[in-house]
Amino acid sequence: MRIAARKILQSAGFDRGASEWLAEAWTGSRRGELTVDAEPLRFTPEEGGVWQFRNRFYPELEVGCTIVAARTGPVVLAHHKPVGVVTSRVDDGGTSVFNALPWPHLAERVEPVGRLDMETTGLLLFTDDGELLHRLTHPKRQVERSYEATLRTPITEAVAEQLMAGTITLRDGHVPAPRKMQKLDAEGRRWQLTLVEGKYHEVRRMMRAVEAPVITLERITYATQSLTDVAEPGSWRRLGDDEVAALYASVSATPGSSVEGWIEP
Ligand code: URA
Repeated sequence: MRIAARKILQSAGFDRGASEWLAEAWTGSRRGELTVDAEPLRFTPEEGGVWQFRNRFYPELEVGCTIVAARTGPVVLAHHKPVGVVTSRVDDGGTSVFNALPWPHLAERVEPVGRLDMETTGLLLFTDDGELLHRLTHPKRQVERSYEATLRTPITEAVAEQLMAGTITLRDGHVPAPRKMQKLDAEGRRWQLTLVEGKYHEVRRMMRAVEAPVITLERITYATQSLTDVAEPGSWRRLGDDEVAALYASVSATPGSSVEGWIEP
């Protein structure tokens, strides 16, 4: 049995030593080093949802009954960025957004899909697939991302129309043109805006240009993903295979495959 387990783990991308060790752990001789959660059963390592073996970190092992699956597809994380952290690896006094991610296995592999400024909250995706990152952020692809903004002074529907028509030019010459603007209150101080590009401080600069500075700004969607899936500020989760596939499909790409194996203990 141990040999079968080792083979499966090896075929799932674990090296020989790790496969041997994990297979032994699973079949009982090192059971004390494993933790098993309640439903669905999964091996939970010490740190951030990954297995550490000697100095290497391996993909998450999921164990349901007698099933062992090692996910080896692309990593896509959704994170709810709180206010006051920067979208940068530079950790200036604990303010890096990477501090919230599982470290070091995932955080060191992934890059943010675009940036949110320090005071902006909401959905921030991360991935280890450079091609996906490129497709999701390239202005040519016009990937939709939406925000909810609260403004210091209300604006009218007519001003929103002007913005959407691309009639307002910012100081650097950029002409923002939100694809959609939807009023969220009677007064016109809360708006949902959908953009298809990621220019520096775009929403804040655009609203300042119409004399309605932004007080709070939250990104609520990016491509196929929504903030409701990471409702708690500061939380993160790895997207499931279906969500990853939908995200890739939205930019006409396909993800790498997940490798699954079976172990009969
Ligand atoms: N627009 C902004 O002004 N800030 C962000 O973080 C994102 C979009």
